[in-house]
Amino acid sequence: MPISIIIGAQWGDEGKGRVVDWLASSADIVARYAGGDNAGHTIALDGEVYKLHLLPSGVLHDQVVSVMGNGMVINPVNLVREIKALRNMGIAISPRNLIISSRAHIITPAHIALDSAKESALGAAKIGTTLRGIGPAYLDKSGRAGIRTGDMLLDVEVFAERLIRAIEAANAVLRQQGGEALDARAAAMSYLEAAEFLRGFIQDASIYLHKALNNGARVVCEGAQGTLLDIDHGSYPFVTSSSPTAGGALTGLGVGPLTVDRVLGVAKAFSTRVGGGPMPTELAGEVANRLRGSGDNFWDEFGTTTGRPRRCGWLDGVMLRYATMINGFSELMLTKLDILSGFDELKLATAYEIDGVRSEHPPVTNAQLERATAIYETLPGWTEDISSCRTFAALPAAARQYIQRIAALCEAPINMVSVGPERDQLVRR
Ligand code: IMP
Repeated sequence: MPISIIIGAQWGDEGKGRVVDWLASSADIVARYAGGDNAGHTIALDGEVYKLHLLPSGVLHDQVVSVMGNGMVINPVNLVREIKALRNMGIAISPRNLIISSRAHIITPAHIALDSAKESALGAAKIGTTLRGIGPAYLDKSGRAGIRTGDMLLDVEVFAERLIRAIEAANAVLRQQGGEALDARAAAMSYLEAAEFLRGFIQDASIYLHKALNNGARVVCEGAQGTLLDIDHGSYPFVTSSSPTAGGALTGLGVGPLTVDRVLGVAKAFSTRVGGGPMPTELAGEVANRLRGSGDNFWDEFGTTTGRPRRCGWLDGVMLRYATMINGFSELMLTKLDILSGFDELKLATAYEIDGVRSEHPPVTNAQLERATAIYETLPGWTEDISSCRTFAALPAAARQYIQRIAALCEAPINMVSVGPERDQLVRR
């Protein structure tokens, strides 16, 4: 069975892009299924650093067709900008190797304005969104008021009219919230050029995938965000508005579950989170600063999309075990293990204490999660630089012990570990 689903097992930013990039070398199709340009995938290749927000990481491989699935929300202007930027770096992108589902939803300028207005209105209780209009776009989708990518195939005047009507409807809400209304006509016009550019890329991606699967294609489904930001399974309301989990891959592409034979959970060797919401293993001070890095390197813990410093802490094994359960990971991969080199000892949260009671699972409410104290197991650290290790046997014994403990806790094998940002800095079993 030909589909592998790659999923973030934490709060996003686990390094999925480079895993997908690596798996893409033996794939025919790489397909994104959820989210929009709230995502930021950074890939280092031959001395160049590529930052992708909307395009699947497969675009960097000549033999791969990249698919943007119906579960995504797409800002056409930003997509065109990203395509042109990559073309300028010598990456060929055409309707031959990029397919955009006609059923994805469009992020309009109104969605972006509404995202900001809503966050401002929430004040200290804000979600900390990426301000890319993601939530309002999904709200229109489920409210059956959205505009879809397929609508860009309409007569240009009909498409413009739809955009203007949608922006005017949003203006009423913006005014109510004390925000500034948009010039609907000017905002709509800014989308027409992008629509024209993208027209040739749009088709029914599910039908394309079915035909390809029947012809034996191997497909990698590229998750964005992470399980703990899932609209159903994350710490609601501090979540994104889509399903970045295994189920989301199926609905977000229109493929059936029996086509999937691998569900790979990608987890960083420690925890990070960006935006608001509970994070039981969050640290302040020296350890957090070491985990975060200075910001001088692209792999340091600062948001690819927003530049915000990420909140950092020890690995939360309770959440990772939960993510394994929600997605049914057939295996886990650990990234950034090299960042843990040099710590005398490492801590791994294996349970929480909430109001004096020990719990092995995340609690039901956010209020309880806010009160959760992590119960840690302490493991020995290692001093060696592991960035040139390529086999498990070459890793220090303490690093192997750390990996084994996480695998046992989550009851999922760990067969891959990354030890640096470059494509080849992978330890494989
Ligand atoms: P939104 O997806 O922009 O609505 O943001 C909702 C929450 O998800 C915020 O806490 C964001 O910081 C977080 N988020 C969204 N996309 C990503 C991502 O790609 N990596 C990490 N966090 C993200």
